[in-house]
Amino acid sequence: MSDVRRRAPLGRDYFERLYERSDDPWGFETSAYERAKYRRTLEALDNRRFHRALEVGCSIGVFTALLAPRCDELVAIDVSERAIARARARLAGVPGVRLVRAGIPAELPPGPFDLIVCSEVLYYLTADVLRNAAAALEEALAPGGTLLAVHWTEPTRHYPLQGDEVHDLLTGQLNLDLTYSLREQHFRLDRWEQA
Ligand SMILES: C[S@@+](CC[C@H](N)C(=O)[O-])C[C@H]1O[C@@H](n2cnc3c(N)ncnc32)[C@H](O)[C@@H]1O
Repeated sequence: MSDVRRRAPLGRDYFERLYERSDDPWGFETSAYERAKYRRTLEALDNRRFHRALEVGCSIGVFTALLAPRCDELVAIDVSERAIARARARLAGVPGVRLVRAGIPAELPPGPFDLIVCSEVLYYLTADVLRNAAAALEEALAPGGTLLAVHWTEPTRHYPLQGDEVHDLLTGQLNLDLTYSLREQHFRLDRWEQA
């Protein structure tokens, strides 16, 4: 099997094309895998409430709608305008949610955030870009803030990084305490907090 993993981040055009072909390219609204991942992600937040949260790669806003009730303010970003348009329709009228078309690391909204969630988004970056993104995300955390990452861990041939590579890189780089880890059959979830 030839290795077709990419040496450049998957960029905006790639995702716009996916959303042009399908309203819900990964089946976020319907798949049992996604439901289980969302449940575990919310459990990892320990019933806490957040003042100002950032969700990176929010797609069509399915998890955004679950996270919003835990946050006074939730900034949810996605590199794709089509995805953000669908998320805006889903979350119309939900208080405290701001949906912004933006890609990390270049367009990361200014912090501070007391929660940052990166769900299945960081393996579209290359290792070098992820190192920059991780530094920027850490910088955007409020004192005592929480960073949560969750990624599919089955092999992918077309993404620059595998899920485990993302989590290993973050664990090696972040100057944060790793306070929760979970590995399930298809995904890995890690939570880091500022001491
Ligand atoms: C697999 S979906 C994950 C959606 C959602 N986080 C979840 O887990 O249900 C990945 C999303 O990340 C977005 N994305 C990819 N690269 C990005 C980047 N550099 N910055 C922001 N969003 C990005 C894509 O447009 C896509 O909507």
